[in-house]
Amino acid sequence: MTDYKKATMDILSKKAEPPLCFLHSFGCQQNVSDGEKILGLLCEMGYGVTQDITAADLIIYNTCAVREGAELKVYSLVGNLKNLKKKKPGLMIGVCGCMAQQEKTVENLKRSYPYVDIIFGTFALGELPRLLYKALTEKGTAVDISEYKADFPEDIRPVRNSGFSASVPVMYGCNNFCSYCIVPYVRGRERSRSPEAVLSEVKELAGQGYKEIMLLGQNVNSYGKTLDEPISFSELLRRINGIDGDFRVRFMSSHPKDVTKELIDMIIDCEKICKHLHLPLQSGSDRILEAMNRRYTSEKYLETVEYARSRIPDFSFSTDIIVGFPNETAEDFEATLNVVRKVRYDNIFSFIYSKRTGTKAAVMEDATPEEEKKERIQRLLDIQREISSDGFKRFIGRTLTVLFDSADEDGYCSGKSDEFIIVKAKADTSVIGSFQRVKITKAFNWALEGEIING
Ligand code: SAH
Ligand code: SF4
Ligand code: F3S
Repeated sequence: MTDYKKATMDILSKKAEPPLCFLHSFGCQQNVSDGEKILGLLCEMGYGVTQDITAADLIIYNTCAVREGAELKVYSLVGNLKNLKKKKPGLMIGVCGCMAQQEKTVENLKRSYPYVDIIFGTFALGELPRLLYKALTEKGTAVDISEYKADFPEDIRPVRNSGFSASVPVMYGCNNFCSYCIVPYVRGRERSRSPEAVLSEVKELAGQGYKEIMLLGQNVNSYGKTLDEPISFSELLRRINGIDGDFRVRFMSSHPKDVTKELIDMIIDCEKICKHLHLPLQSGSDRILEAMNRRYTSEKYLETVEYARSRIPDFSFSTDIIVGFPNETAEDFEATLNVVRKVRYDNIFSFIYSKRTGTKAAVMEDATPEEEKKERIQRLLDIQREISSDGFKRFIGRTLTVLFDSADEDGYCSGKSDEFIIVKAKADTSVIGSFQRVKITKAFNWALEGEIING
C-alpha cells in the first residue's frame, strides 16, 4: 500500500523550508475539533502551521452547511483565493467539512472555482494525505465525499487552538432528523467513541494542565447507546468527574427529548461539571415543534427546567431558537416568547430559519415575509436583553469561578464563569488560562464585571 504521507512530502520537501498550512474552520465546535485533527495530521506529515494565509502553501477551509449565510461566506472566501493562487502557482487549496460533503457543493466548486485542488467530506478527513498526493500528481480536483465507516484515526494528535480549553468529541453524527437541519445528511448516523478512548484523552489533557474540557456531540444524551457495551452519558460524566486534576467539564448539545433527571442529578452532584445546560428549545409552539420533528412539547421542556431549578433555584440555561420556521404564525412566535420568559435563559443564540435543500422543511410552503421574521427576531433579542440584564443582577456580591481566556483593550481580561457567562475584571494577561475567584460588582446585559480575589 502506498504511504501517501511520505509520497506527498517527498514531492513537497524539495524546498528547503517545510511547507506551511493554513486552516480555518467554520460552524460548530465539532467542526472546529475536526479542524484541529486535520492540522494534527498535516503536522505529522511534516507541514508547519501558519496563521498568515499569504505565507501558506496549503489553505484549507473546513466548512459549515447549517445555514445559507455560512455557505455564501465560504464561496466568497474561496473566490478571493483566485488571485493568491495566480501569484503563487504551487499554492494548494482545499475545501472540506459539512458543505463539502454535499454533491451540489462539489459541482459548484468544480464549475466556478476550478482552481480548488482538493474537496473532501466529513468522513474522509483521514484520506487527506492520499488526496494531496493525487492533486500533486494528477490533473483536476481530487475529490472524496465517500461515507467511510471508520472515524478519524484515534492516534492522530490534534493541534489544539488553546492551551487551556480543549474540545473532546464523544460521539459523531446525528439520528434525529429535525426537519430543518442538514447535519444528519452531512455527518451520517450516530456513533460513539468508546468510554476508554474518551477517558484516556481527558486524563491526558488534565495531565497537561488543561483547565476546561468541552465534551462534544450533536446530541450527547444519545452517547453510548450503540456501543457493544452500552453506557449512558451520565455514567460517562461520572467517570470523567473521577479523573484527577484541576479542570472543569462542559458539554454540548443536549436534546430536550433525551434529558433525564439522572443527567441533571449527575451535573449537580459532580463537582467538576459546570452547573449550566445548553438546551436548544428551537420553538415554544407545540405545533411548530411537531413540524420540526423535535419530539417534545413545551410542557416537557419546562418540566426539565423546573426539575433543575428545584435543585438549584437559579440553575443556568442557554438555548438555540429558530425564528420564522415555515408557517410560524404570530401566535406560535408568542408561544416561544412565553417559554423564553418562563425559563429566563442566561443566553440565547437565535437564528432566522434558513431553507436547507434536501431536508423535509425545505419543501414546506412558507408564507411569512422575511421582514416579519426580522421583526420577530428583533423582539426576541430585545426581550432576552431585558431578561439577562435583570437575571445577571443575581450575581452581584457573589464570587464566581472564572476561567480567563482573553485580554480586552482597556486593561481588563475576560473569561467565562461556570454558568458560561462572560466575566470581565481588571487584570494583567498573566491570568489568561487560569481559574480566578471573581467577586461580581456589576451586571450588564451581555456580561458581568468584578474584582479578582486573591487567596
Ligand atoms: N445538534 C445541535 C446543534 C445543531 S446546529 C442541537 O441539536 O442543538 C446549531 C443550531 O443551528 C441549531 O440548534 C438550530 O437552532 C440552528 N439551525 C439548524 N438548522 C437551521 C436552519 N435550517 N435554519 C436556521 N437555523 C438552523
Ligand atoms: Fe440537527 Fe436536530 Fe441533529 Fe441537532 S439534533 S444536529 S438540530 S437534526
Ligand atoms: Fe455546521 Fe456541520 Fe456543525 S453543518 S453546525 S459545521 S455539524
